[in-house]
Amino acid sequence: MNAVKSNCLFYTVIILLYRLSYNQPSVVGLDGKVIAVTPWLAPIVWEGTFDSFLIDSIYKQQNITIATTVFALGKYTQFLKDFLESAEQNYFVGFRVHYYLFTDHPEQVPAVKLGEGRQLTVLTVASSNRWQEITLRRMEKLEKLIESRLVNEADYVFSLDVDTKFYGRWGAESLGRLIGVIHPGYYQTHREHFPYERRPESQAHIPVAEGDYYYGGAVIGGLVKDVHEVAKTCREQLDIDAAKSIEAAWQEESHLNKYFLYNKPSKVLSPEYLWQDFKPHTNEVKIIRFSQVIKNYAAVRPNP
Ligand SMILES: *[C@@H]1O[C@H](CO)[C@@H](O)[C@H](O)[C@H]1NC(C)=O
Repeated sequence: MNAVKSNCLFYTVIILLYRLSYNQPSVVGLDGKVIAVTPWLAPIVWEGTFDSFLIDSIYKQQNITIATTVFALGKYTQFLKDFLESAEQNYFVGFRVHYYLFTDHPEQVPAVKLGEGRQLTVLTVASSNRWQEITLRRMEKLEKLIESRLVNEADYVFSLDVDTKFYGRWGAESLGRLIGVIHPGYYQTHREHFPYERRPESQAHIPVAEGDYYYGGAVIGGLVKDVHEVAKTCREQLDIDAAKSIEAAWQEESHLNKYFLYNKPSKVLSPEYLWQDFKPHTNEVKIIRFSQVIKNYAAVRPNP
């Protein structure tokens, strides 16, 4: 009996060690070449790894609708014009795209000419005095929008940050069951130094020896059902933290990283799909498709 018990314990320890002990996956190899697949066999989407014409035509046959949610609260409405105009030129061109725009200033939404098959719905929400609060409530808004509308109105959904601009093609190569993007600031960083939430009291906690990539919170995508699971889970975890007065280091981004650690994305977008305008170009990133614009935080955020 004791031997059986100690055997069980032994195997449990082995399983725990095994789970914790895999090496961090690389994004760029020692030869400087980009890596196009994760250790769980999900593609990492880089320029040169796909045929854009072929991949678009596969998805066009399926007559899909891509819902795209953006949040433009307070002074963030100033980013809408560039976001929408550049999306119309680069983002799923030729596909049915439905933007769902959450704002507390519907009168400030610019009139942007949309292409055929594309539409924009403005959803008015209450204002907030803290930008942290605004990010915390995004998951809840996304969860509820999926339940009330997107289950009937779309096949895929992307939730994108609005203080951004498209500079290059973003098409059907980005579609899949569950999509995350590698944050441009950390794709060559050792995971010990990722800005994950490290306090065990938070639901977003990730131990120092764990982690695959540091994912950016500016892009979440996938099938409507799978993105609903992300939004619902993160909202629940955010609520548990809030009840304990804990705010994760990077709010929803921290919870998203926790989610993706245990629910691996089926496709990972390279930093081509999320750059930062202030970051110098690097050898690996041949094309910048989507990038966070330089902003004066003091001028756009309602609080420091
Ligand atoms: C494609 O989808 C749209 C909207 O869901 C629908 O109105 C249209 O009839 C569909 N077209 C075809 C060819 O199935």
